[in-house]
Amino acid sequence: MDIREKMRREWDRRARIDPRYWVAATQEADEESYEASAVRDSRALVEGLRDRIDAEARVLDLGCGIGRMTAQLTDRFAEVVGVDVSPEMVDKARELHGGAANLRFEANNGADLGDFEDDSFDLVFSYSVLPHLPPSVLRAYFAEVNRVLRPGGWFRYQFWTGPTGRAHADNDTLNIRVYDHETFAGLNREAGFRVHEVEPIDYFDPVLKLNPVWVNAERVDEAAKIEGDINEVRVELSEDERALEYGLLIYLAVKHGERGENDEAERVLEEALATDPKRVEAYVEWAAHRQRRDDITGALTLFEALTEELPEAPIGWLYRAQFALVAERIEEARDALGRFDGLDCDDAEFLEHAEMLRGELPEPPPKPKTRTKTRTKKRLKK
Ligand SMILES: C[S@@+](CC[C@H](N)C(=O)[O-])C[C@H]1O[C@@H](n2cnc3c(N)ncnc32)[C@H](O)[C@@H]1O
Repeated sequence: MDIREKMRREWDRRARIDPRYWVAATQEADEESYEASAVRDSRALVEGLRDRIDAEARVLDLGCGIGRMTAQLTDRFAEVVGVDVSPEMVDKARELHGGAANLRFEANNGADLGDFEDDSFDLVFSYSVLPHLPPSVLRAYFAEVNRVLRPGGWFRYQFWTGPTGRAHADNDTLNIRVYDHETFAGLNREAGFRVHEVEPIDYFDPVLKLNPVWVNAERVDEAAKIEGDINEVRVELSEDERALEYGLLIYLAVKHGERGENDEAERVLEEALATDPKRVEAYVEWAAHRQRRDDITGALTLFEALTEELPEAPIGWLYRAQFALVAERIEEARDALGRFDGLDCDDAEFLEHAEMLRGELPEPPPKPKTRTKTRTKKRLKK
């Protein structure tokens, strides 16, 4: 699959699940914090420009999502355009912000700005987009941003740069890449930009142990010709990407659950399960929701699916036994406990739980007596 196709497909899927969450990923994962982030980030965008861009300017938002920041800028600049690889994001942006005459949104192919003319923008900005891109796509975009900016125009973008760098597979469209200082400098230089300021953003990432930065770069030269073709990048699914996507979906589902938004939580859990059916969290969370709605059969079905996908996970058999017992499917419960025992689990809590379930199982019916062969033989002799 072409990397551009993969980016479109994946961001479309994220947009369908919950566009606000996927563009802003606030800790609270709710609408209020999304709105607050739009005001905060667009204010930081404008303040950091230091009055270099006047009110007559044409502005392009690269990777605009649902227009979170784009829509905040219509009073400040003459024309604002948002472009995004995901048609789903663009549709949602149009639906949310259709009113302003000087604002429009376009979908692109995820690697060039072919719909826009040379020298046609005064400012291109990009927030929380470039660090997610495969490096070949990133380089292509830097050259394209140069092309669409007028000479002396500005590129202001959010980025991650640190001494050690942090790479991800070329097909990963979600994990953050951190570029070391040298690569970062080369990227700008080759694309004809002079970096004026690199300023930390007030957010410390506990995993990366780093703050992202805002970069102000001026178009001072033509971009060097890019070697290689992004068409050549063949992609399969990236494991890192799947793991991050799964974790973020579980987080979102838990947040919905905490707010009592149970339908939403279950919908997100279904997506998490589809993202990775080989992990247990989505089954367990989803079954808890089913149980709260007194849908014991639903919960049991989930644990049946879990034990099928992951027969070596003790938790699946344990809960399958528990729900089978409640559903009065005694044989299934007995079998599931047997399978649990066979896994030699050493988790004290699980073992205690299994013991309790065993105590609740009714006595097995007595086995029918069979005659011994000798007796039968003796009888036959008579
Ligand atoms: C984390 S969101 C940020 C959206 C927006 N900049 C904001 O801050 O609200 C990343 C956005 O980048 C878009 N995107 C990802 N890869 C892209 C690409 N190659 N070209 C254009 N947009 C892309 C996604 O569709 C998504 O809308």
